[in-house]
Amino acid sequence: MPTLLALETSCDESAAAVVCNQTVLASAVATQMEEHARWGGVVPEIASRRHVEALPHLIEQVMAQSGVSYQELDAIAATAAPGLVGALLIGSVTGRSLARLHGKPFLGVHHLEGHLCSVQLGDPLPPGPYLVLLVSGGHTEMICVDGPGDYTRLARSRDDAAGEAFDKVARLLGLGYPGGPAVQAAAASGDSKRFSLPKGRVSRPEGGFHPYDFSFSGLKTAVLRLVNQLRAEEAAGGEPFPLADVAASFEQVVADVLVERTTRCARDQGLKTIVMVGGVAANHRLRARLEERCQALALEWRVAPLAYCTDNAAMIGVAAEQRFRAGAQSSIELAVTPRLPLEQAPVLYEPQAPF
Ligand code: KG4
Ligand code: ZN
Repeated sequence: MPTLLALETSCDESAAAVVCNQTVLASAVATQMEEHARWGGVVPEIASRRHVEALPHLIEQVMAQSGVSYQELDAIAATAAPGLVGALLIGSVTGRSLARLHGKPFLGVHHLEGHLCSVQLGDPLPPGPYLVLLVSGGHTEMICVDGPGDYTRLARSRDDAAGEAFDKVARLLGLGYPGGPAVQAAAASGDSKRFSLPKGRVSRPEGGFHPYDFSFSGLKTAVLRLVNQLRAEEAAGGEPFPLADVAASFEQVVADVLVERTTRCARDQGLKTIVMVGGVAANHRLRARLEERCQALALEWRVAPLAYCTDNAAMIGVAAEQRFRAGAQSSIELAVTPRLPLEQAPVLYEPQAPF
């Protein structure tokens, strides 16, 4: 049963965890969100500096909490791609230095593989294959998982990711960054049926619409138009701006579109289990909608535990453990890269570092 120390620094959360046998012995996350909030989004230079400050403390904390010594570790892992290069480098260099210092194997991990593995920290999964809906700040994808490391992408967003749509709409509504939790809070008391918003279909060159792909940029524009209209009405002495209803209507259409297309894809592909992971999977309305539709369609479903939806290092540890058990390790020279398709994750374990 391998025990690993894992680090995650791909964006604006610094995180460390110790995992053993797909179980979290200790996990700590330091968010930088407040610092980025005043700029309305993540500032890469600030992110890197904060990772440098936070990571040593987080590592110390999880090592102490887990009661595991460096000698007892079987490997050390860090996110290697995709993400902000400067931010990724802090985790990678720290992980590789510790690995060299303590004579342990090092594993670079694909961030999205981490998100896929986050569901393993919850209730046991039925036998695969699964259709995974990955919804984060940078990605909205449906991936068929046939087994560990065996991925086929079946759909994606053609423009904004779902999380990005939440972040942009939050800004339009004056709710700040990060948008997801803020929109969710504002929507809680709203009427989700009040405003009808577009579901963003992707047309095909040969005619008709792509059955599964997403597009969220039109939705964002529709919300902008609606907000302008409602604010004008308010300024002319009409109803006060109905923030809760706008937020709830937006949240509902995102949940509907994600769940409708994913369940249709599962049905068409003969997949019996839907798995949902990523930061947006923390959304209550989306979780409830998925549960409701899967129950109605007699599909199995699993959602990553709330604590492991947004970025964390426990999921990176679980992904690394899976690769390590299969005999993989990375070159100690492995650096980082801002973009790497999930299907190319195996290059991280080539004897010659690809970057
Ligand atoms: O997976 P994640 O932590 O980072 C990436 O890998 O991108 O996802 C962050 C995204 C942000 O866009 C954030 O607004 C969104 O997840 N998010 C949510 C919620 N919590 C976080 N979106 C909707 N509802 C939430 N409760
Ligand atoms: Zn993420």
